[in-house]
Amino acid sequence: MNDFQTIRDEFPLFANKIHLDVAFKCPLSNRLVQAMTGFLVDYQMTGGNKQSWLGMVERARSIFSRMINVKPEDISFIKNTSEGLNTIAWGIGLTPGDNIILNDLEHTNNVQPWLNHQRFGVEVRWVRNQNGRILPDAVKERMDGRTRVVSLSSVQYKNGFRSDLQGIGELCRKSDILFVVDAIQHLGVLSLDAKRLNIDVLCCGGHKFLLGPHGIGVMYVSESCVNRIIPPFAGINSKNQVVESRQELSGKKICFGGDTRKFEYGYMNFVGIAGLMASAEMLMETGANTIEQHVLRLNHALVNRLQQHGAHLISPLGDHERSAILTVKLKDPQHFESIMLKNNVIATVREGTLRISFHYYNTIGDFDPLIECLMLANEIDR
Ligand SMILES: Cc1ncc(COP(=O)(O)O)c(C=O)c1O
Repeated sequence: MNDFQTIRDEFPLFANKIHLDVAFKCPLSNRLVQAMTGFLVDYQMTGGNKQSWLGMVERARSIFSRMINVKPEDISFIKNTSEGLNTIAWGIGLTPGDNIILNDLEHTNNVQPWLNHQRFGVEVRWVRNQNGRILPDAVKERMDGRTRVVSLSSVQYKNGFRSDLQGIGELCRKSDILFVVDAIQHLGVLSLDAKRLNIDVLCCGGHKFLLGPHGIGVMYVSESCVNRIIPPFAGINSKNQVVESRQELSGKKICFGGDTRKFEYGYMNFVGIAGLMASAEMLMETGANTIEQHVLRLNHALVNRLQQHGAHLISPLGDHERSAILTVKLKDPQHFESIMLKNNVIATVREGTLRISFHYYNTIGDFDPLIECLMLANEIDR
């Protein structure tokens, strides 16, 4: 499917609002709502069939594996990005004196899981952004023999800066450092090949650019490092076995499976997976490259217009640095927000900035009311 009008028709919210806020939370498509209600109605009327639910989980796994070019068994379902990052932070066996490299643009959900290990003597090292950019050389400078992890958002939530995953991935690979990517502002709207980029772990909540519901997301852990990460949680749904063991007092011992499915434990969020899978299928029908080209065209068009009107853009604008997020500095955020609200435009106003984020259902025409709001608020010239 490549007809962007048909895609837009999937999102009834556009009948009365202009949604430019997917970096916060996505508008819901008809396909998602039908999949989730369909799941619940079937469960209600038939009592549900766990085998068929588990079959659905495997189909969903396979769709996500195609999306990022990995194997289905390298994907597990998580509640949200933080759950994935915490799983890794607890699972890799950090010891006192180890260090983790973060940067000063990261979202708090990719900071707190690591800060939580400072109390065990783990050091968190910060890379300073350079005009809104996190550069490979700056990451390299912070690395040493005790660096265990570099954890990085592939697209920064504040300014939309798209990181050089290839460059940073290569640095990590050379020094045997775990490369962890938070892809929540990336996956679903920009292409990503986890294999080619040397990504060891990728975590992504479903409710932003993947166009899914809350409370469900995906985690990828590469085959080459999955055995180094011990699941902090275990249960009947983990790909594990409880085996008889003479060494253990209880006579029983746990043996985890050898792939990423071992991070799943109890009953799963099946209805969430039904919704997320419907969205992922819809995205895959168009394809990541086509979606990326569309949103980068939107990015260029919006930047041109904002610049013509003298806006103060703070997003990096290099060729490979652009994403589906653009941020503008505001003079009077409160006033602007009230004007946006009155005009049925949805975007994020925060910390003195306006964050505009878009997806393949948006058109260049969606920027007209936004520009008008900026003019009405005297944020930009007429
Ligand atoms: C970069 C980044 N990571 C993580 C999150 C959210 O984390 P979670 O999926 O755990 O709610 C956000 C969103 O607000 C984000 O922008």
